[in-house]
Amino acid sequence: MDIYIDTANLDEIKRAADLGVLDGVTTNPSLVAREGVDFHTRLEEICQIVSGPVSAEVVSTEHDPMVAEAETLTPIAANIVVKLPCIEEGLRACKTLSDRGTKINMTLCFQPLQALMAAKAGAFLISPFIGRMDDVAFEGMEIVQQIRTIYDNYGFSTKILVASIRHPMHLSQAALIGADVATAPFKVIQQVMKHPLTDVGLQKFLADWDKAHAAMPQLAGSR
Ligand code: E4P
Repeated sequence: MDIYIDTANLDEIKRAADLGVLDGVTTNPSLVAREGVDFHTRLEEICQIVSGPVSAEVVSTEHDPMVAEAETLTPIAANIVVKLPCIEEGLRACKTLSDRGTKINMTLCFQPLQALMAAKAGAFLISPFIGRMDDVAFEGMEIVQQIRTIYDNYGFSTKILVASIRHPMHLSQAALIGADVATAPFKVIQQVMKHPLTDVGLQKFLADWDKAHAAMPQLAGSR
């Protein structure tokens, strides 16, 4: 499963990229607004750090302006993926732009038929928002499972990008279902490698090592 970071913050993107396991970036208008920077400039900066797909969302809500906006985003870098909302106009724009070779991420997906339609319109990515469904007492991960089944039934190549991830369990559930990609905030990416038993085990190994080397300083490898 590919791992993307869900942020427009450059420091977080650099730190995640330094881990060596970052496959892409997703942004949305809220995340960009939080940074208080020029959108296009920020996208250029992100694409200099990450060579994988970088999703950039349009803010228009009708077909023609969406397509026009997309055409200002794609020249920024070869790895820009245009994000469109799962509404009727977004679906039409997805078809138009996909037919022209633009990679599309259909976002704000909350039910499997939106995903079916996005795949039929040629979307590169579909983004079911898991955490936001959990927030309203609906099991978000069920949608991911249903989309996986539909895509496999018909051999759609659209990638399932699990979005709105709140904690590491979402990531492991996404991987178990067979999602293609998960996008997570930096905090969740950091949490993934944390386990109290790893910390306790490591402390014990090092303490035993130090004890042995204190008793026998002639041994190689003292810390
Ligand atoms: C994905 O592309 C979205 O930017 C994101 O995952 C939304 O997450 P949120 O529900 O935490 O805002």
